Amino acid sequence: MTIPSPPPGRPAPVPAAEASGLNKQYPGVRALSDVDFRIEPGEVRALLGRNGAGKSTLIRMLSGVEVPDSGEVRIGGETLGHGGVRRAVELGAATVHQELSLVPEMTVAENLFLGEWPRSGLSGVDFPRMRREAAEVLAELDVRVSPEATVGSLSLAEQQLVEIARAVRRRPRLLILDEPTSALAAGEARTVLEAVGRISASGVAVIYVSHRLDEIRQVARSVTVVRDGSVVDTVDVQEATTTQIVALMLGQAAREQEPFAPRTVDRSSAPLLSVRGLTLAPKLEDIGFDLYAGEVLGIGGLLGSGRSELLRSVAGFEPEAERTVAFEGRPVARPSAAEMKRLGVGMTPEDRKGEGIVPLLGVGENMTMAWFAGISGRAGLSSRRAAEAGDELARRLAVKTPGLDTPIVNLSGGNQQKAVIGRWLHARSRVLLLDEPTRGVDVEAKQQIYRLIRSLADEGAAVVFVSGELEELPLVCDRVLTLQNGRFTREFLAPDITLDDIMAATMAVEV
Ligand SMILES: Nc1ncnc2c1ncn2[C@@H]1O[C@H](COP(=O)(O)OP(=O)(O)OP(=O)(O)O)[C@@H](O)[C@H]1O
Ligand SMILES: [Mg+2]
Repeated sequence: MTIPSPPPGRPAPVPAAEASGLNKQYPGVRALSDVDFRIEPGEVRALLGRNGAGKSTLIRMLSGVEVPDSGEVRIGGETLGHGGVRRAVELGAATVHQELSLVPEMTVAENLFLGEWPRSGLSGVDFPRMRREAAEVLAELDVRVSPEATVGSLSLAEQQLVEIARAVRRRPRLLILDEPTSALAAGEARTVLEAVGRISASGVAVIYVSHRLDEIRQVARSVTVVRDGSVVDTVDVQEATTTQIVALMLGQAAREQEPFAPRTVDRSSAPLLSVRGLTLAPKLEDIGFDLYAGEVLGIGGLLGSGRSELLRSVAGFEPEAERTVAFEGRPVARPSAAEMKRLGVGMTPEDRKGEGIVPLLGVGENMTMAWFAGISGRAGLSSRRAAEAGDELARRLAVKTPGLDTPIVNLSGGNQQKAVIGRWLHARSRVLLLDEPTRGVDVEAKQQIYRLIRSLADEGAAVVFVSGELEELPLVCDRVLTLQNGRFTREFLAPDITLDDIMAATMAVEV
């Protein structure tokens, strides 16, 4: 679809933003080649593409974070040039980047006005005004957090909403959201989608990056597909089918998802892991479950229901958690993080940026660091084995990287994610606790991760799978437990796991 030119006689409206002939080369990667892009006031445009396609790079150019090697960016008709973020903001571009950028020690209000705190008189910061205006923006977006709350005490989702509020507060003409909902469950994502609707209705142009097609259909009129650094096409989201859009994205015919072959899990012998009396106030109350070798157990729950706390407690990362644990039928006297790791319990944390990666280490090292024994020879660490293991993992997970030595921080968001998952696969964990493993990865990588999870279970591991995208649970799990108000409410067994049932059990009204 080409963008229609305005009817003759009327002056062409000034686009909210325009990019022409953008090129950007990183070491070993052509991240953007000859990219043209244009968005009109009041338009919501989705950006879609595989992990590493160049979406965030395009956004960094539009928001002045980086300068293209060649090409030009205009915001509201004015050239951005080398003006950087400051000029982009002056011209009316506000961006929420894929990585959160709040200051955890400060309050919500302070973060919303970071660097632009309102002054009172000559002396100091006008805190009452700051709080008042912060409360207004938060209310406008229907974000229910206190302006006085410390950002570090908020959930990841709440922090994400605060990031959006911060961008909106500037009353931009162009709002850019890079995967704003990847940390959110369906209900919370709705808050963001509704906010985007309201913002665009007031004439603001919105660029919206997401890997969730259902969301794109709700929020945007058209979607620009990026592949290998080039814009492939811009299509009407109502007219194009999902298969067509995915095919554009992959550059090949999209494969239908094959359902996994049904399996039987033997639950007659001792469970691999048993947890009883797990309590972590105020989130979890007297929770117990058994986990069997060879099964994938899903935990369904809304955001804030305690899914992450549950995994963290089991892995030993919540010192306050009370629980008794048995491994292969034997009680574990002190289920500390070190002891759980020694027993073979691995966990991928929800906040990969904060807890998952070592940013400046290479991709290969990041993937193999949890299990040095696997890459050691008789004379200590073997670089040959490390390289082989790294290669193998990168291949199985299709991690897009110029090389295994590339610092992991230089990979696209989704590829960092895949590398962290790879680490725990490499660690040969007997029990794998996966917190949101598919967050931020593209449709194809999701399938690869599902397949890996299933094959690990086939090899005898037990996997606990947490996802805010509840529709993933029936696809991968042998059993699903739903969590609500700190307790398990229902248990579903394959093949009788349906999205409707899970939704009903997680969203049931509070009593
Ligand atoms: N600072 C950097 N240094 C080196 N390479 C980089 C840097 N930033 C991005 N790249 C590379 O540029 C390419 C495009 O990355 P980009 O982050 O734009 O992808 P993306 O489409 O946003 O992917 P995702 O969906 O995973 O977030 C990738 O191959 C990435 O590894
Ligand atoms: Mg990105």
